[in-house]
Amino acid sequence: MTNPYEGLLPFSQDCSVLKKPLKIGNKTAPNRLVCQPMEGCDGTTDGRPGELTLRKYQRLAEGGSGLIWVEATAITPQARANPRQLWLTKENQDSFKELVELIHTSARNAGWETPVVILQATHSGRYSKPDGAPKPIIAYNNPLFEKELLPPECIISDEELDRMPDLFARTAKLAEECGFDGVDIKACHRYLCSELLSAFTRPGRYGGSFENRTRMLLDGIQAAQSACGKDFLVTSRLNVYDGFPYPYGFGVQEGGGLDVDLTEPIMLVEKLVNQGIKLLNITMGNPYVNPHVNRPFKTGPYTPEEEPVMGVKRMLEGTAELQKRFSDLPIICSGLSYLAENSPFVAAGLIEKGGAAMAGYGRITMAYPDFAKDILSHPDRPLDSGKCCIACSKCSQLMRAGSFVGCVIRDAETYMPFYRRDVLKKEDEK
Ligand SMILES: Cc1cc2nc3c(=O)[nH]c(=O)nc-3n(C[C@H](O)[C@H](O)[C@H](O)COP(=O)(O)O)c2cc1C
Repeated sequence: MTNPYEGLLPFSQDCSVLKKPLKIGNKTAPNRLVCQPMEGCDGTTDGRPGELTLRKYQRLAEGGSGLIWVEATAITPQARANPRQLWLTKENQDSFKELVELIHTSARNAGWETPVVILQATHSGRYSKPDGAPKPIIAYNNPLFEKELLPPECIISDEELDRMPDLFARTAKLAEECGFDGVDIKACHRYLCSELLSAFTRPGRYGGSFENRTRMLLDGIQAAQSACGKDFLVTSRLNVYDGFPYPYGFGVQEGGGLDVDLTEPIMLVEKLVNQGIKLLNITMGNPYVNPHVNRPFKTGPYTPEEEPVMGVKRMLEGTAELQKRFSDLPIICSGLSYLAENSPFVAAGLIEKGGAAMAGYGRITMAYPDFAKDILSHPDRPLDSGKCCIACSKCSQLMRAGSFVGCVIRDAETYMPFYRRDVLKKEDEK
């Protein structure tokens, strides 16, 4: 098979590298395939995984991926992005323990070694909607997002930010007690920790200088590390490029427009490594404002100026630059779903060239939960194109409509009724 992305993306005819186990700290992932966090918005009001949440993780575990990164889970009720977002507490910890057990048993019953399981701990920041209506908590106002400035009470104070690391640490400790292998102090997609990285215009201890803008993430990681045992992985899903010009974007140069500049992300990863992190998950963009950067699509809310494959290229090149510089740190890439059946060849090419340690799959996991099984059993074949994600953005439309989120096309029996009820009805009303 010839590389359909010649000159753009790495490619390997043989995907056997994806079958290799990987040591991550004192844990071992049985292969290089990662289910990226994908929110289903299907938890209970008190934050527990719901029926559809359990169905999703059971299917993913049966699918054989080496690492399952469990979706955004709020650290406080105010931090929830929707009223059904997962939220881990002492009171509902038993349900999260059952979730981990379900993942372990489902994987084992399907004949796999148990995957590494990470929990993504989040503060939704400007996208907080704990009761279904927006209750933004922002790091700073910016004219790219705000037609009118949000009132000062929406701007989180330094004192509240000072308390955040303890809240992340509390969630991390609870996650460790539940049997998770690690916790992600989420710093991507413009949620609170990610927005702070570009808080150039914010006064005080959390804005302006690089040191101030990265303070909460680094303190959050340190607090989680101190609260948990040494084998527990404290990691981060990190935006290394926001796709907004200075002073509103991280990973861009002053006066450099929208060009990627990894100078600051590299400084940050160096600090993370010095703080002892053993795993990193790299991503870019903002799913609400520039989704073509975050999850290149065929059909979406607008027609981007660039070919979607250029979005994939940007993400993989950014990841590769970091992975090559920090070769001892296992790094996971994002943004493979757009490549559909050819994605394993690109993932394998990237890993063979030292451009990442693991291949992270987002939307494909909802469309094709056993994609890993097919790659691992036939490393020389493309994925089944009839099961792949078609990058139609319907999962995101479900999310925006406050519905239950899954693949409307490939899992139609379950999700098409929600799409008809919550998205099409809304469109009919317009
Ligand atoms: C419906 C939906 C839910 C998502 N939920 C999360 C999430 O909980 N946490 C997160 O970090 N990223 C989330 N993402 C982003 C994905 O993990 C991934 O980065 C993105 O879809 C690009 O990868 P892909 O091209 O493989 O889909 C979500 C994306 C979609 C479309």
